[in-house]
Amino acid sequence: MESDLVRVEDELLRVVSSDSDFLTDVASHLILAGGKRVRPGFAMASAAVLDPDAGTASIDVVRGGCAVELVHIGSLYHDDVMDDATTRRSVKSVNAEWGNLRAILAGDYLLGRASELAADLGTEVAGLLATTITHLCEGQILELESAYDPTRTIEGYERSITGKTAALLGTACRIGALVAELPRPVVESLTEFGLAYGMAFQVVDDILDLIATDEQLGKPSGNDLVEGIYTLPVIHSLADPDIGPELAPLLTADISLDARDQARGLVRSGDGVDIALDVARSWADKACATLTGLPDTPGAEALRAASVDLVERAAAPLS
Ligand code: IPE
Ligand code: IPE
Ligand code: MG
Ligand code: MG
Repeated sequence: MESDLVRVEDELLRVVSSDSDFLTDVASHLILAGGKRVRPGFAMASAAVLDPDAGTASIDVVRGGCAVELVHIGSLYHDDVMDDATTRRSVKSVNAEWGNLRAILAGDYLLGRASELAADLGTEVAGLLATTITHLCEGQILELESAYDPTRTIEGYERSITGKTAALLGTACRIGALVAELPRPVVESLTEFGLAYGMAFQVVDDILDLIATDEQLGKPSGNDLVEGIYTLPVIHSLADPDIGPELAPLLTADISLDARDQARGLVRSGDGVDIALDVARSWADKACATLTGLPDTPGAEALRAASVDLVERAAAPLS
């Protein structure tokens, strides 16, 4: 598994190289910066889920994982333009380094390269990746539409994160399973796993935005409130009669950094974060439950362990 992740790094850099040295530099910026590589890891673990010995991943599985990671990275280029974020993966964001225009173009380029990789893996994988990019855009648009809306509902929030985050994690697992030609019921279970994990993943990311530091995250924390993205803990806090009336007037489109910090403090003083943590925990439990029919293999164990670690990561800054 460790050496397979090294193969992912090599393949990512190979795939994004262009005749233009400048484009190669911009497109490899966030690859070289690192990242957790959750998605290629899931593609490879899913492909190996029936294998008791978990041997080396096939090159097609590595490429499937890379296609998903490139969609993810491309979406981060665009997301940082949308969020006006200055750091990512503990380095300068692409928009901060080269401006929005080049960040958008390089993000498109990464989506193009991801599509080329997927096309080589067959029509089903290519179609799946295309649909996932569509869902991603739909999720991001829903989020934009609800920006600065204090009446944003839990259902609206869940719809948005299903598209913008869960869809790609479901696809990471599904592509691994498809490329490894696993039986259909296993393909479906792994897709369900990725979707449920993806829901927990975004809820945790949203909690961390409210409770962690820039250094812990390697990206700006507290930015969701500035961008008017009212996530699950905030939605619950707004509905809390003890906190909502004080919190609501702070949440404006021209929120100052002082007001932002005050709002974060208010959210942290109530139950909103704990309630969101429980929601993340129940999505992570649901993810684990999808694995129960599978044999006890290193691949299945890696997926299970990832679900447990995820929620612990969000709970840690609280204890
Ligand atoms: C960040 O994803 C974007 C979200 C969906 C929350 P990751 O937390 O996987 O980011 P990297 O890949 O480790 O940088
Ligand atoms: C995830 O949402 C964005 C994408 C799915 C591209 P966020 O906006 O919360 O991601 P971060 O926090 O900037 O990584
Ligand atoms: Mg963002
Ligand atoms: Mg976030």
